[in-house]
Amino acid sequence: MNVLMVCLGNICRSPLAEGIMREKLNKHRIQAVVDSAGMIDFHEGSLPDHRSIATARNHGVDISKQRSRPFKKADIVKFDYIFAMDNNNYESLIEFADTRDQEEKIHLLMEFAGFGVRRSVPDPYYGNLSDFENVFKCSTRHVNRLHRKLQSNKAK
Ligand code: 4NP
Repeated sequence: MNVLMVCLGNICRSPLAEGIMREKLNKHRIQAVVDSAGMIDFHEGSLPDHRSIATARNHGVDISKQRSRPFKKADIVKFDYIFAMDNNNYESLIEFADTRDQEEKIHLLMEFAGFGVRRSVPDPYYGNLSDFENVFKCSTRHVNRLHRKLQSNKAK
């Protein structure tokens, strides 16, 4: 299974979401490729934001080896689940879908996590550590949902 987390810059939200996702799937020995990407290439090659690294580290997750990269069209073929952090990312991603199957791979993270329809993970870029902690909280709820879904699919 291949899972991609997507935000705007791929330095704040999606690197954290990637780290949390990888940790959880590893812990449960679920074979998966987990990656993240941004809708812009402005930060290409950069480390995650130091506040994302610190927030992850506070929860025992190391995301310091990650580097920002832009989303590319081939990602929509490679990945089974593509999670957008906000509505803008979602709308941009949908533009890349050529088929209904590809469109159905794209989900809004907050919706999938059960936070409500068309909700976005607030962008913490201009915020403080508590905004990054909020990203961690949203992502944790999200990964728990995905894990439960995978478990129930397996049971079928
Ligand atoms: P991210 O946060 O999309 O969660 O990585 C941002 C990072 C950079 C910018 C905006 C949001 N930026 O405008 O450069």
